[in-house]
Amino acid sequence: MGLLGSPFFVAIAVVLGLLLNVAILCNGGKTSTFVRKVEKTVDIPLDSDVFAVPSGYNAPQQVHITQGDLEGKAVIVSWVTEDEPGSSKVRYWSEKSKKKVAEGKVVTYKYFNYTSGFIHHCIVGNLEYNTKYYYEVGIGHTIRKFWFVTPPEVGPDVPYTFGLIGDLGQSFDSNKTLTHYEKNPRKGQTVLFVGDLSYADNYPNHDNVRWDTWGRFVERSVAYQPWIWTAGNHEIDFAPEIGEATPFKPYSHRYHVPYKASGSTEPFWYSIKRASAYIIVLASYSAYGKYTPQYQWLEEELPKVNRTETPWLIVLMHSPWYNSYNYHYMEGETMRVMYEPWFVQYKVDAVFAGHVHAYERSERVSNIAYNVVNGICTPVKDQSAPVYITIGDGGNLEGLATNMTEPQPAYSAYREASFGHAIFDVKNRTHAHYSWHRNQDGYAVEADSKWFFNRYWHPVDDSGAD
Ligand SMILES: [Fe+2]
Repeated sequence: MGLLGSPFFVAIAVVLGLLLNVAILCNGGKTSTFVRKVEKTVDIPLDSDVFAVPSGYNAPQQVHITQGDLEGKAVIVSWVTEDEPGSSKVRYWSEKSKKKVAEGKVVTYKYFNYTSGFIHHCIVGNLEYNTKYYYEVGIGHTIRKFWFVTPPEVGPDVPYTFGLIGDLGQSFDSNKTLTHYEKNPRKGQTVLFVGDLSYADNYPNHDNVRWDTWGRFVERSVAYQPWIWTAGNHEIDFAPEIGEATPFKPYSHRYHVPYKASGSTEPFWYSIKRASAYIIVLASYSAYGKYTPQYQWLEEELPKVNRTETPWLIVLMHSPWYNSYNYHYMEGETMRVMYEPWFVQYKVDAVFAGHVHAYERSERVSNIAYNVVNGICTPVKDQSAPVYITIGDGGNLEGLATNMTEPQPAYSAYREASFGHAIFDVKNRTHAHYSWHRNQDGYAVEADSKWFFNRYWHPVDDSGAD
């Protein structure tokens, strides 16, 4: 046996090969070394105070608001009464205006052996911009009063602060995430929620009581500031084995969005303008291929975005396109193939997704050169591309996604398997400050942060801007 065939030489060659491999492939960003105390994620018991039913006969519960039109002059107020329909009226007023009344409507649904309460939806419109409104729902002894602040008029340099929460669920960790968001000194004014709300479908027969408990849990935030909804896979509630074959039945009865205002034909994809941002919500679980309603809508929608009016173009979806965890890996790939060239063409600033129960921020990359025969299929740095952020770390009972693909791919700038939320703080037409906040830290701590330079007004490299 010659030297080349000796076991010693083979071992040296293997080690050298591995080292070379690491040197070539390990060109990604940072994988955080933060060490968490490993604890099982546990759902909050039904008798916990965060789920408390408001006192009084037929008292309104699960109060929540979302934007009610295209530009932020309307709000959809929703709530549930358990015992009887009661009133669908919302009484509202500002410090400058008299009390007005808006009349809503009531819906109910059945799901297997569950019958919903009376779900009220009321559009409160023609509001003044940048104004604090008080509102009341309910009648007699069980009137409940809340307030919200309308956004400033849509315009290019209007500062505005968005919170980002995904995959929240109703565990003790979910409660920590919501508390951290509420106590964050950057003070989010509207939540962009990237899907997977209650996780009721993880309970036997998709126990819809857990949709009600979730509604009561988040009321403390969403009754006072709008949450912009994205549908996730846990909203599908498709269970033909128990006779439930209508996708999104509980979600679409409970959470209304202003989809018609942006010309959408379904509530699962739509857009809104808010302050200096144009927010497009996409549906990972509705058809998105060529000729589908969503495809046609998005094709017509993107050219309508006027960056002189709304410089910040933000897309929300549930299933991420760029994800380097070994969970839900490449599930967003087919939608990426369909829409990514448009995102580059129209210079989307940021794409926020959930689904993966961890945190990840990408470089500005695109992967649009491939055409079946040319073999060019590696993401490349692209200053016209968005930053992709996975913020599915709200804290639901399924626990954290801790297993990552190694080595960290070049497209991944920062990743960490911890629960938390993020803030996208728009300063003006050129700059927005982004920060991610992990639940273990103090409320003001930014575990990851970055300045975003607007892709239309200031399209220079912002990869090192933190
Ligand atoms: Fe999901």
